[in-house]
Amino acid sequence: MIDLVSVEQHVMEVCHEVGEFIRVESLNFDRSRILLKEGFNNLVSYVDKESEKKLVSTLSELIPGSGILGEEGTSTKSTNGYLWIIDPLDGTTNFTHGLPPFAISIGLTLHDKSVLGVVYEVTKKEMFHAIEGRPAYCNDQVIKASPIDSLNESLFATGFPYYDFPKMEAYLSIIRKFLKQSHGVRRLGSAATDLAYVAAGRFEGFFEYNLNPWDVAAGAFLVQQAGGMVTDFSGGSNFLYGREICAAGKIHPEMQSLIAAEWGY
Ligand code: IPD
Ligand code: CA
Ligand code: CA
Repeated sequence: MIDLVSVEQHVMEVCHEVGEFIRVESLNFDRSRILLKEGFNNLVSYVDKESEKKLVSTLSELIPGSGILGEEGTSTKSTNGYLWIIDPLDGTTNFTHGLPPFAISIGLTLHDKSVLGVVYEVTKKEMFHAIEGRPAYCNDQVIKASPIDSLNESLFATGFPYYDFPKMEAYLSIIRKFLKQSHGVRRLGSAATDLAYVAAGRFEGFFEYNLNPWDVAAGAFLVQQAGGMVTDFSGGSNFLYGREICAAGKIHPEMQSLIAAEWGY
């Protein structure tokens, strides 16, 4: 058995270190250095790549035999069931435009069950972290998902699709419903931060489709450890690899059924 408390400490240390690298680079980032990955609007920079390299070298040594799935191409097999799921820079578009927030997201699963989640939001220097069996924290404070259970007192977050446009109409109907019944809908530009904010009760709920496991692994676990609920749009548990996520505090059942109805479930 590994000592998750010590692993979590090391993960936070490397997040501070790599976060500082990202923060310094953000001060002088030159947009001509944006690169395009496969697909429309899929931005990346040397900062994403360099950060992943730094994280991978620490994480692979932290749990020998663990595998790594990283957004910037790292894919190593696990020999002991542990898998790191990492996004070295979540919110690249914000980063390249000099806007907050952007974050490092590190999840750890054991045989596909989440056991650790760390989201470090670089611009506010907020470290959201949790391990199995313990509460979720923002820096040293325990955080809890929102107890609010009425839509008209809730603030939501989402991401706007920037490809896969055929689903756009159904998605816009969901957003229209939330806009008419809630305090509003925000689009921060970093799914990991959105989820961390749901864990902290700042947002009542967050939903998005077409996200990858590295966008949600850490943040979804934070929400669960903070007493919230995370499902796919149908209310099922396939949110890590299923490319649909609905994460919320007490408003979750109402939020999920509204989404499911518009999405055709
Ligand atoms: C993106 C952000 C964004 C979400 C996108 C993601 P990236 O991640 O999380 O909020 O809407 O779908 O791809 O590319 O900045 O790591
Ligand atoms: Ca991402
Ligand atoms: Ca990324």
